[in-house]
Amino acid sequence: MNNASHLKIELDLGSYRGRLARPLAMKIPELQRNERLTHVIFASQFTKTTIEHLTALATKIRTIARTKDGALFLQGLLPHKRAMLYFTQVSTRTFLSFTAAAQILGMKCSEIRDPSVSSEYKGESPLDSMRMFSSYSDIIIMRSVIADFAECCAYLMNDLNEFHQRSVPVINAGSGADEHPTQALLDIYTMKQAMDFNSNSEFSRRDLNLVKLRHKYPDLQRGLEGKVYGFCGDLARGRTVRSLVQMLSLYKEVTMYFISPDDPKLRVSSDLVARCEAMGVRTFTADRLTDCIGRLDVLYMTRIQHEHGSEAEKIRLQELAADCTLTPELLSQMKEYAAILHPFPRNEEIPSEIDSDPRALYFEQAVNGMWARTALLAYIFDVDAAVATYYEKSFSQFHDYNQAVL
Ligand code: NCD
Repeated sequence: MNNASHLKIELDLGSYRGRLARPLAMKIPELQRNERLTHVIFASQFTKTTIEHLTALATKIRTIARTKDGALFLQGLLPHKRAMLYFTQVSTRTFLSFTAAAQILGMKCSEIRDPSVSSEYKGESPLDSMRMFSSYSDIIIMRSVIADFAECCAYLMNDLNEFHQRSVPVINAGSGADEHPTQALLDIYTMKQAMDFNSNSEFSRRDLNLVKLRHKYPDLQRGLEGKVYGFCGDLARGRTVRSLVQMLSLYKEVTMYFISPDDPKLRVSSDLVARCEAMGVRTFTADRLTDCIGRLDVLYMTRIQHEHGSEAEKIRLQELAADCTLTPELLSQMKEYAAILHPFPRNEEIPSEIDSDPRALYFEQAVNGMWARTALLAYIFDVDAAVATYYEKSFSQFHDYNQAVL
């Protein structure tokens, strides 16, 4: 996006300044209707109940999708709906997984990835463009370098709804350096699977047995509560960490290590640490992975976001980041059952020789993204109950009365 269109969006959003400046607690009720999320803009919109519902739904959907009949059932759920993917900032996984998610449910997709081929080139205001998209589609999934753009679009849709005009849900698929709530959802889904220690899971190559693990780690429990999470890399400009730590703060007895070179360009922001602490999270900062790697249950790696700085700065930050690179030697100090995640793309922070280690879950994480996003779309369009009914009918075990303990 060039500077002129950047400036145009900023000017366009000016009329929302008052609404943007409000505390989150005032905004969140406006983004939902009848206790269900309508627009998905912030990670803090998700309650633990919603997360549990969506992750369970994702597993049901992927189980159903394994048979032809199941896949056809899913495709029959939303063939009358169209999704607009407005991705004016680069994307591989988020764009493709949202497209696939919509297709799994039978939806049709349109896309704009380059505003220079839309009427924005002729000076159309981005908010007018959004209103046009809502005329042709039933949901807008958007990624922008402008942090507030998705939030403003949600307010625009609410205003249209108020005046009985066509209005559609807006999903934030990455807003500047601020938030990436659907990435946080899929990250949590992956961590829940990893910390379930279910050696029979059909969707994980990890073969971990909790009873055996307890010989070495006597206090180990299933689930996300009471665990130690490490976030490593560019914690200032990476939006995935910002969203994920807010979602993880919902879980009890959580400890978080923020690991980054001691440089203001990369260090975690104090507002994020304060938010976590207000939710009861114990927080620590470190500037080398080696200082805490043996204590972590989950390590969430991120790349240095060089696109935000100059070439000279790139070299400087790259050198600083050496202590935040996961090496085979550091890997050997990690707990046997730990999980390593990365939102991708990666650079040098995880060498590919680590990929075959069963703790490396980043490729599974990318697959999980498609199912978590399918679950989110099914929920937004209110077909989650139909999925659950089909699942119960097709997959739940018949009750064996001989086994019953009365
Ligand atoms: C991330 C993003 O775009 O925020 N990627 C993703 O969506 N999976 C992370 C990044 O760009 O580093």
